[in-house]
Amino acid sequence: VEVEVGEFLHGLVRLVKPRLCLETGTYVGDSAEQIGKALLKNGFGRLLTCDVDPETVKAASIRLQGLPVTVMESQGKVLIQSVSLTDIDFVFIDSGIQPVRLEELELLGNHNVAPLGIVAMHDVGFDCAELYDYFQQLHWPHLVFPSIVGLAIFQRPA
Ligand SMILES: C[S@@+](CC[C@H](N)C(=O)[O-])C[C@H]1O[C@@H](n2cnc3c(N)ncnc32)[C@H](O)[C@@H]1O
Repeated sequence: VEVEVGEFLHGLVRLVKPRLCLETGTYVGDSAEQIGKALLKNGFGRLLTCDVDPETVKAASIRLQGLPVTVMESQGKVLIQSVSLTDIDFVFIDSGIQPVRLEELELLGNHNVAPLGIVAMHDVGFDCAELYDYFQQLHWPHLVFPSIVGLAIFQRPA
């Protein structure tokens, strides 16, 4: 992610104090590192992040050692399904092409995101604008930032 988006995610995690965080799309681990460092400062909480590329998973696991971050080789939708009965406090959607991300978002809602939990999605001003349109249907309060590729932040009502 862009530096300012990473810094924003870091600040958001410091503010929200999530226990369980999920990320789809680890890649080199920029956003996972920012989220992980914020969790470390918070003193609690864990990030589960996943990527479908084994080399990426290996490299990111090394980079993120020492942080409360678990890097998994998995599709984002499988990761979300694996924790669907748990309250998720913070999600960052940053995986593959738009249809892949849409499948992930379709698995999220009032049933598995904790009250006041956050669903953040990257690239909504770029090539994933339909994600924002889809998630609006939940009528959760949200903000959209016109960063380079666009960032939307939705919050489940209390
Ligand atoms: C835009 S990059 C993620 C950037 C990362 N968040 C960062 O800040 O460094 C997208 C990543 O999603 C991965 N990806 C593609 N399809 C996926 C899927 N179905 N589930 C999880 N990750 C996927 C790609 O391999 C790629 O590494």
